[in-house]
This record gives sequence, C-alpha cells and structure tokens, in this order.
Amino acid sequence: MMTEAVHIENLTKVYGSGHTAVIALRDANLVAHRGELVAILGPSGSGKTTLLTAIAGIIEPTRGRIRIGETTVYDDGWRVRDLRGFRRRHLGFIFQAHNLVPFLNARENVLVALQINGLTGDQAVRIAQELLDYLDVGARHDHLPEKLSGGEQQRVAIARALANSPSVILADEPTAALDTNRGKNVMALFRKIAQEKGSAVICVTHDHRMIEGFDHIYHVKDGSVSNESRASTTQERNKS
Ligand SMILES: Nc1ncnc2c1ncn2[C@@H]1O[C@H](COP(=O)(O)OP(=O)(O)OP(=O)(O)O)[C@@H](O)[C@H]1O
Ligand SMILES: [Mg+2]
Repeated sequence: MMTEAVHIENLTKVYGSGHTAVIALRDANLVAHRGELVAILGPSGSGKTTLLTAIAGIIEPTRGRIRIGETTVYDDGWRVRDLRGFRRRHLGFIFQAHNLVPFLNARENVLVALQINGLTGDQAVRIAQELLDYLDVGARHDHLPEKLSGGEQQRVAIARALANSPSVILADEPTAALDTNRGKNVMALFRKIAQEKGSAVICVTHDHRMIEGFDHIYHVKDGSVSNESRASTTQERNKS
C-alpha cells in the first residue's frame, strides 16, 4: 500500500473580489504518495504557483480540502492549529535560485533551518555538514552563496529543504535557471531523495525536458487541474 503524502480535494482559490476577482484555481484535485515524483505543468498564469503555495500553507485557499499525511491542514476555511509549526516539521521548500541568505555560508544556510526546529550545537553542525555532503557540496561548506555556482546554490537550497526530513518537498521551477545537464542532475537528486528518504516531491515546471523523470504529471490550465499518468504520457509520445 502506498502512503498518501498529500491529498487535495476541490481546492479553489480566488484572488481579490468583485469585478477584479481572479479564479486562480478551480476545484483542483491532486494526490501524491510518499516516494513519488509529481510534476505540475502548465502555461504562465495557469495557477501552478498558487497550487504549490496553497499546499505549502503560504496562501489561504478559498475553499476545498488539503491533507498532508494523515492530518487535515485545511478544510473549507478551517485550518490546522499551528500551521507554521506543522509546515516546518513536515514540508520542505525549494524556490528558484538566489533564496539563500547572502551573508551566511553554505553550512550556515542549512543550520538556520535546523535551528528553527530547535536543533543546535555540534549535533546541528554535523547534520548540516552531512546534508551538504549528501548533495555533493560538502567541500563548499564555508562559501558564501555568491561564491557558489548556480547549480551549487541550488543544491545548498535542496540540502536546506531536507533539513527536517520532510515528508513532502515542494519545488517551484527548480531547474529553470539551470542548463539541461544540471537540470537532469537535480531531477536525479529528487529521485534519490524520494527513494531513500521516502518523501513525495511535487515540482512545478515549465520545462518539458524534465518530464521524463516524473511518476505523475498534473496539467494546469486556467486554474483547472487534470491528471495524467506517466504510462499514458509515454503512449501519447509514441503515437506522435
Ligand atoms: N496575489 C495575487 N493577486 C491577484 N492575482 C494573482 C495573485 N497571484 C497570482 N494571481 C493570478 O492568479 C493566476 C495564477 O497565478 P500563478 O502565479 O499561480 O500562475 P503560474 O502558473 O505559477 O504562472 P507562472 O508560470 O508565470 O509562474 C494568474 O492569473 C495571476 O495573475
Ligand atoms: Mg509560478
């Protein structure tokens, strides 16, 4: 039995109200299991970031339901108590590059995420270093972000997202700023993280070069979300 990591039901988000209202998400449904890589694809303005940030608890949906693991975190206007704490313990975020703290070195950037969860001292330093090693940037631990390449910065950001062993990793366009090879490396890393850590990885992408690597693909169009399994995608591609 596969364990559900994220379960979204009829999620709707309306920004603003009256004649300026924008329906960014309409009755969206999505399921991601632990160990799975899930892509969210769609044109600019279709609602991808809205979906991701709603799962993340960063924006408040208008209606619908969000479950993370066994916990209902949002249900038609009701939300879990201590959402921030819940988020910190269960979710990891990777946004586009350049979201590292510029005046902290690579290891300190990871340390901050551990400290927020109450892990301090030598133990925290050791875990931060292990995470950097895991992502193959351990040797760069004392470099400031500006002294790292784009790909290295991205891996430090992934190390930071892994700090709390999240059951769900949310990534918004993580390969947008990378060349094809680096993008593929990030995908391979996500695969490894999903397999070894059992996290669900949900990844917004514009990048059709990357879709091969995903188990499920959700297409977003004008706020509507449709699901497509990898098998059918491959068939489609073989037909054409
Ligand atoms: N804070 C906001 N207030 C009002 N409208 C918003 C807000 N954020 C997004 N929107 C609108 O909601 C729709 C979906 O936006 P969203 O950012 O989710 O798109 P996206 O698919 O991530 O696009 P992109 O690929 O360009 O990042 C768009 O029409 C956008 O203009
Ligand atoms: Mg977006």
